Amino acid sequence: MAMDKLLSRAEKVLIQNVGRFPVVFTRATGSRVYDVNNKEYIDFLSGIAVQAVGHSHPRITAALQKQAEKIIHVSNYFYLEEQIELAEKLTSLSGLDQVFFCNSGAEANEAAIKLARKYGQKYLGGKYEIISAYNSFHGRTFGALAATGQPKYQASFRPLPAGFRYAKFNDLKSWETAISEQTCAVLLELVQGEGGVNPISPDFLHGLAEICRQKGILLIFDEVQTGLGRTGKYFAWQHLGIKPDIITCAKALGEGVPIGALLASDKVASAFQPGDHSTTIGGGGLAFAVGVEVLRIMEEENLPERAAKLGAELISSFQGWQKEIPIIKEIRGWGLLLALELSVPAMPIVDKCFSRGLLINAVTPNAIRLLPALNISRKDLDEGLAILHQTLSEAENQ
Ligand SMILES: Cc1ncc(COP(=O)(O)O)c(C=O)c1O
Repeated sequence: MAMDKLLSRAEKVLIQNVGRFPVVFTRATGSRVYDVNNKEYIDFLSGIAVQAVGHSHPRITAALQKQAEKIIHVSNYFYLEEQIELAEKLTSLSGLDQVFFCNSGAEANEAAIKLARKYGQKYLGGKYEIISAYNSFHGRTFGALAATGQPKYQASFRPLPAGFRYAKFNDLKSWETAISEQTCAVLLELVQGEGGVNPISPDFLHGLAEICRQKGILLIFDEVQTGLGRTGKYFAWQHLGIKPDIITCAKALGEGVPIGALLASDKVASAFQPGDHSTTIGGGGLAFAVGVEVLRIMEEENLPERAAKLGAELISSFQGWQKEIPIIKEIRGWGLLLALELSVPAMPIVDKCFSRGLLINAVTPNAIRLLPALNISRKDLDEGLAILHQTLSEAENQ
C-alpha cells in the first residue's frame, strides 16, 4: 500500500504520544532497513540501542523459530531451561549473583526501586529515599519517572511517588548534600543516554561509591542503554572498576523481543521474599532464547571489543571532521554510544540524513546520537558516515 495512505491510517488509529518519522518500514536486515517503497536506509540508531547484532540476524531468527516450536510461556510460577541459562550467563558477565526478569527497561528500574526500598526496610532500619541524577532517564512508568531527573518528562504527570531526590551528575558535592539519613540507594547511568550521551567522570564515581560504602547505601547502575557491549565492555561499570549492588538492563538483551533484567548481589536479592514482586510474562521463552543467543554471538564475535575499537576510530574521524566542519562543537561517548554536539539545531540535520537514507536521532536540541549495531559492516558504516559528512558539511556552509 502507498506510504501516504498507510501514514494517514496510522495517524488515525495510533496515539500520537511520540514524534515519529513519516515512514512505514516493511523489512530489515543487518544494518539496513527498507520502507514500503523499498527505499533503503542505513541504520545508525538500531531501534534506540536495541539491535546490537543487527536486524533479523539469522541466528536470532533461528533461535526464535526453534523456541516458538518448543515452549513460549508458562508464567512466573515455573522455570524454563533458557531462563536459567540466560541468568547464569548474565551473572557471570556482570559479576552479580541473581537475576529477576521482566519486560522492559522501565520495569527493570521499577523492580530496582522496589528492591532498594525492601532492602532499606529489612537491613537499613526503614531507609527509603533514592537519589538519582538531574538529566537522567530511567523510564516512563511512575517509579522510573520519579527517578528521572528531568522536569520535561515529569511535569504533566504530578503528583509523582514520594521518596526521590536529585543531585547534579558529576558533582560530588551535590550528592553529599542530597544524601540524607533516609537514603537507601543511589541510581545512575554511567553514560546518560537520553540526557545527551554524557559520560560519568571516574573521579566522581569513585567518590560517590566511597560515600555509599561508608554509609551502607546501595549503588544501582541503570545499564539499560549502556549494557551488553555497547560502550566497549559487557557492562559500563567494567570500565571504571566500581561494581554496583544492582544493575538493570534491557534493550540489546532481546533485540526487540521485550525483556528487562535486574541483576543483584546475593545479599541485596535476599531482601525480596516470595510475593514481593512479580510479572506474568517476565521475559518469556522467546526472549530468553534470544538473550542466550545474543550473548553467544557477542562472545564468539568479540562484539564489545569491536564496539570499543570502532568507537575509538569514529571519535578520531570526527575529530578530523571538526577541522573542516566547526559546527561540530563536541564529540562525546563511549564505544558505539556517541553524540556530536552541534552549534546549530540537530533536527534539520536528522531530517536531511533521513531523506538521504540514514537513520540517526536528535538526542537533545543540538546533539545527534549515533548507535550503530556492534557488528555493523565497514561498508554500511562508511556509507552512513558519507551521508552524515555531506549533510554536516552542507549545514556548515549554509
Ligand atoms: C538508561 C535507560 N533506562 C531506562 C530506559 C527505559 O527503558 P524502556 O524504554 O525499555 O522502558 C531507557 C530507555 O531509553 C534508558 O535509556
